[in-house]
Amino acid sequence: MQRIVTVAGARPNFMKIAPIARQLARFADTVRHTIVHTGQHYDRKMSEVFFDQLGIPEPDINLNVGSASHTAQTAAVMTAFEPVIDSLRPDTVVVVGDVNSTLACALVAAKRGVRLAHVEAGLRSFDRTMPEEINRVLTDQISDVLFTTERTAAVNLAREGIPEHRVHFVGNVMIDTLLAHRERARALAVAQQYGLQPRAYGTLTLHRPSNVDDQSMFDSLLTAIADISRDVPIVFPVHPRTRPRVLASPLASTLVERGALRLLEPLGYLEFIGLMDSSAVVLTDSGGIQEETTILQVPCLTLRTTTERPITVSAGTNQVVGTQPADIVAGWRRIGSRPPGTVPELWDGRAAERIVDVLRQVFIAA
Ligand code: UD1
Repeated sequence: MQRIVTVAGARPNFMKIAPIARQLARFADTVRHTIVHTGQHYDRKMSEVFFDQLGIPEPDINLNVGSASHTAQTAAVMTAFEPVIDSLRPDTVVVVGDVNSTLACALVAAKRGVRLAHVEAGLRSFDRTMPEEINRVLTDQISDVLFTTERTAAVNLAREGIPEHRVHFVGNVMIDTLLAHRERARALAVAQQYGLQPRAYGTLTLHRPSNVDDQSMFDSLLTAIADISRDVPIVFPVHPRTRPRVLASPLASTLVERGALRLLEPLGYLEFIGLMDSSAVVLTDSGGIQEETTILQVPCLTLRTTTERPITVSAGTNQVVGTQPADIVAGWRRIGSRPPGTVPELWDGRAAERIVDVLRQVFIAA
């Protein structure tokens, strides 16, 4: 019997573990799969709703670490995860993405001598001030099996000295989930529910510390939103981290009063995919949303100076426009003249199947 522990901690992890859990369940006679939720995200709207909508089995174990400084949070996950490893004694720990829980559990697995697999390895923004970049680089350094979503990732890993035989190009599990749920999301007709005309509104998300921890930075981004909202109203599901900035912004209040900006609570997975799917544009600083808009073929403006997902620009609908208001607005004006995107290689809904194949082979070979 192979024992696999899969870790999920924060919102963008949940849609990544869903297809892996489903594939592992097919081998229930030979694989014992345990899901550990670290509790990094704990609000119902940031966590539970994703398990419900995506049919992910209830986590077997919840470490309930909650929010804290990055150091304290990472340390708390490590301290809570080590006894779990000692009692379950898994053959493999699977971590996904780049959040603090990813690195924390990766470190524990490596220190306890357990085989570590990283899903979504090798992505690099080359900006070490991003907390996620540190999490990515360090997790990849200590992983035994690295699953990549795009070919540039293998180049990054080779540059960092990771042996090629550890790296497996499998495609994108986030897209497995998107393709599996797109029709259900469309059927909700979310835009209509909010009284919006399909293709005549923009969807905004912001939560990167560099964009939302500083009020003047946030206010500056909002001036671009104010400009674009003269053409299309903007819908903004607000991340908990961002809420204090919105509440402290007089411009946000003015735009809301004018009906140019619509504030929403964080949405469930299906509602958010549905909202993006009929948007004229998505403005975001998220990583995963750059990928989802590529598949939905919705124009995306990334309000950052870098992306760790260059395929979304070279193949997809993404423009990395930076954080200067004039550049953001220029990106919006360019959208009509850009070619439609294409589907990146292996973003075909079968990444989790490939991952589970490799995990089984690696176990047999060991
Ligand atoms: C984390 C990830 C980021 C990911 C994002 C998606 C790291 C370094 N960052 O950022 O990569 O893109 O999740 O959401 O791991 N909070 C709540 N309820 C919750 C969770 C958080 O209110 O369920 C609030 C707390 O005030 C907390 C703040 O949000 O302090 C930030 O949460 P945290 O988990 O530290 O990071 P995120 O900004 O969500």
